[in-house]
Amino acid sequence: MATTSSAQQTLDTFGFLNIEVDPTLDLVEEISRLKKEKNAIILAHYYQESEIQDIADYIGDSLGLSQKAASTDADIIVFAGVHFMAETAKMLSPHKKVLLPDLKAGCSLADSCPPHIFSKFKDKYPNAVVVSYINCTAELKTLTDICCTSSNAVQVIESIPKEKQIIFAPDRNLGAYLEKKTGRDLIIWNGTCMVHEIFSHEKITKLQMRHPDAKFIAHPECEAHLLEKADYIGSTSGLLKYTQENPATEFIVATESGIIHQMELASPQKTFIPAPPNNTCACNECPHMKRNTMEKLFVCMQYELPEITLPDWVIKKGVASIDRMLEISARAGL
Ligand code: 13P
Ligand code: SF4
Repeated sequence: MATTSSAQQTLDTFGFLNIEVDPTLDLVEEISRLKKEKNAIILAHYYQESEIQDIADYIGDSLGLSQKAASTDADIIVFAGVHFMAETAKMLSPHKKVLLPDLKAGCSLADSCPPHIFSKFKDKYPNAVVVSYINCTAELKTLTDICCTSSNAVQVIESIPKEKQIIFAPDRNLGAYLEKKTGRDLIIWNGTCMVHEIFSHEKITKLQMRHPDAKFIAHPECEAHLLEKADYIGSTSGLLKYTQENPATEFIVATESGIIHQMELASPQKTFIPAPPNNTCACNECPHMKRNTMEKLFVCMQYELPEITLPDWVIKKGVASIDRMLEISARAGL
């Protein structure tokens, strides 16, 4: 067992418990054993590596994951996702232990909106309702009236009286998409997701010429010029559902490539082509999501570290914006 002080030291340095794992261990078996022993639930986002998705108890988009975090009766929630998702789970289930395999699994959108700077921006519009995409820090949620995800953002905007000004943070692409969908003028924070901004219009067009029957599907975090040519726009679970229900057999997928694992499992006879980034790197993989590995997941469950902790005031104030989002989603049958 790592001692408390050595554990803290390695967490401060690396963001995860940097303990060597015996390479002969069957990690699937070990993680399954720990789940049972500790009454733990593993919640995984679709952008996690395939092996992690395969061992998860629940795989979903940000809305589904929040709903599950709010309703689970497990003692420990192990979040195979990024920091803001684990924080959201902690806010919804404050008495449970919430673990994140790597504390440095961040999010470029959350980073793009520092609460102290946003607070000054918000002061310029004292009568505006603040809607924040769930991809933001817990502290930003304390400055937010209603949270939203890509699954319920339209319903959240439409729940606000027409005469009210709305600030939308932090994703400018989702904000622009919502303006188009709802016909509302939004005051939009200028943040972006590093993964969804990288897709190449030119390469996608060439792919479409080579695969004329393929449907082009995109996440609303993508830039407007890509969304304009999409056959379908939706959250990760929306995209997955579309590929299951649409009779097409080829899909060009403009979101993080981890989702393709579930698409292939659900429709093994169909072909899924990840939309290419505008250079040769693997930039359509989220480097934050991919910080989680099976080894880190195992160590995190064994030592019950790193744990997400939040000040009480942040939980109390911030959770109200998530609760409002969940109420609106429930009313809309989402
Ligand atoms: P959804 O899974 O809610 O569509 O969100 C995508 C995303 O970027 C999560 O970080
Ligand atoms: Fe954040 Fe983008 Fe990664 Fe999602 S894909 S966690 S929005 S950086």
